[in-house]
Amino acid sequence: MGFKVLIKDLSNNKEWVKELNQPIFFIGRVSSNEISLNSPKVSSRHARVMVRGDKVTIEDLKSTNGILFNNAKIDRSADLSFGDSFQIGDFVITIVSEDFKTDAPQKEEEDVEFKFDPFAYVRPFLAPINDFLEDASISEIMINGHDKIYIERKGKIEKTDRKFASEKALVAAVKNIARALGKEVSEVSPRLDARLDDGSRVAAVIPPCALTGTYVSIRKFSKKALTLQDLINFGAITQDAIDFIELCILMKQNVIVSGGTGSGKTTLLNVLSSLIPDGERIIVIEDTAELQLQKEHILRMEAKPADKKGRGEVTIRDLLHSTLRMRPDRIVIGEIRGGEAFDLLQAMNTGHGGSMSTIHSNSPFDTLSRLENTTLQSGIQLPLKAIREQISSAINIIVHTKRFEDGSRKVNFISEVLDLKPDMSYNLQHIYVFERTGKDESGKVLGHLKFTGNVPTFLDEAKKAGFIKKGSFLDTIK
Ligand SMILES: Nc1ncnc2c1ncn2[C@@H]1O[C@H](COP(=O)(O)OP(=O)(O)OP(=O)(O)O)[C@@H](O)[C@H]1O
Ligand SMILES: [Mg+2]
Repeated sequence: MGFKVLIKDLSNNKEWVKELNQPIFFIGRVSSNEISLNSPKVSSRHARVMVRGDKVTIEDLKSTNGILFNNAKIDRSADLSFGDSFQIGDFVITIVSEDFKTDAPQKEEEDVEFKFDPFAYVRPFLAPINDFLEDASISEIMINGHDKIYIERKGKIEKTDRKFASEKALVAAVKNIARALGKEVSEVSPRLDARLDDGSRVAAVIPPCALTGTYVSIRKFSKKALTLQDLINFGAITQDAIDFIELCILMKQNVIVSGGTGSGKTTLLNVLSSLIPDGERIIVIEDTAELQLQKEHILRMEAKPADKKGRGEVTIRDLLHSTLRMRPDRIVIGEIRGGEAFDLLQAMNTGHGGSMSTIHSNSPFDTLSRLENTTLQSGIQLPLKAIREQISSAINIIVHTKRFEDGSRKVNFISEVLDLKPDMSYNLQHIYVFERTGKDESGKVLGHLKFTGNVPTFLDEAKKAGFIKKGSFLDTIK
């Protein structure tokens, strides 16, 4: 529900209005506040306002000059109703419903210089680690109980000395974050899976399911998605290998990116899907939207959990069913975790070649057994041989990533899935393998993603189709 904030500057009698629709917002001098009031009498972060229905709670964030309400300075916080005015510096502020009629102009955006703060909802509840949210060098914040807070910086995990006041305070913080994001966390439903406005991912589990304290993990969304060139510069992949994967994509091979937790799967899928030729109709399905594909013809869908009463769940599998009726040229599924595996394999086998996804696994072979396990979870009653045949014909290429002990993430296998062996076991040929040569004095893992000499089965066809540039590395493979 939206509302309006009427602002009158008593120093020049100017009035303006700002429409907002978030339940919590900030007033202060600097532009990161939703209502920024450029005056020395206003503190940089002066007040926090919470709107619930037509009730308004205003809280003084230890400002220098305070907030006036009913001609008195408020003591920390005050409860108001729509239509009540309060004063900060020379500004009289009134919050009214969205259908309130006013002639006051909307303040020009460049005038207000409004800066979007993706953490506005959660910031008030994460005081001990607020600066970690700001710090772009920190990619993940992991809270393993109120006094055990870890961060990941440049790929390395460090313990910090930060603490929440108590376990109770941390549980309260998680419940408040959930509430601010429109979700509910309680002892009955002790899990939170949510995404902040900038795409950062928050996952939390509170007791009784978390056994040694409350667990929270915040995977920060890097403002600038890593690009293909970044990955090459980091030594995560080589241009040759990218050329090869690009060829696979042109040849409509189905590609699975696999690897351990946090090994860079989603990042790589994002980069690789940018190699899909322009003009193709791509449908992206995710549990929690993370991919940032810069493509023209793209449809993005996000699964939806059940509400408090268990109604309205929409799974990846459901969305995949809808997708198949929407003429996709390519289907990109953020991560295969459950029931959707079998449907995706079928789609890949029946004319939706060139699709992509990721799965959690420890090696290229393990990727295939993980797919097998998730397919079995789909409740499919098929003999194992039939399932394995489906998998080996649906999946063409596995790009396997690894997080090394120095914190770097690298592609360490690119493998082609061949037909099953006579004994029904999976058959892989590695096309690229990361050959580790050692470590430098700073502990950095050294090595090179090397072509193995194994010739991909579709190379001849690719040459005939004219997909291989003359004189390129791929052209030299016989
Ligand atoms: N090649 C890379 N070099 C440096 N950092 C990377 C690289 N790839 C990914 N990262 C960073 O590593 C973190 C984890 O990446 P990502 O989310 O892609 O991993 P994931 O395997 O999908 O994780 P999860 O298993 O949680 O889904 C992110 O902060 C990302 O920016
Ligand atoms: Mg991921």
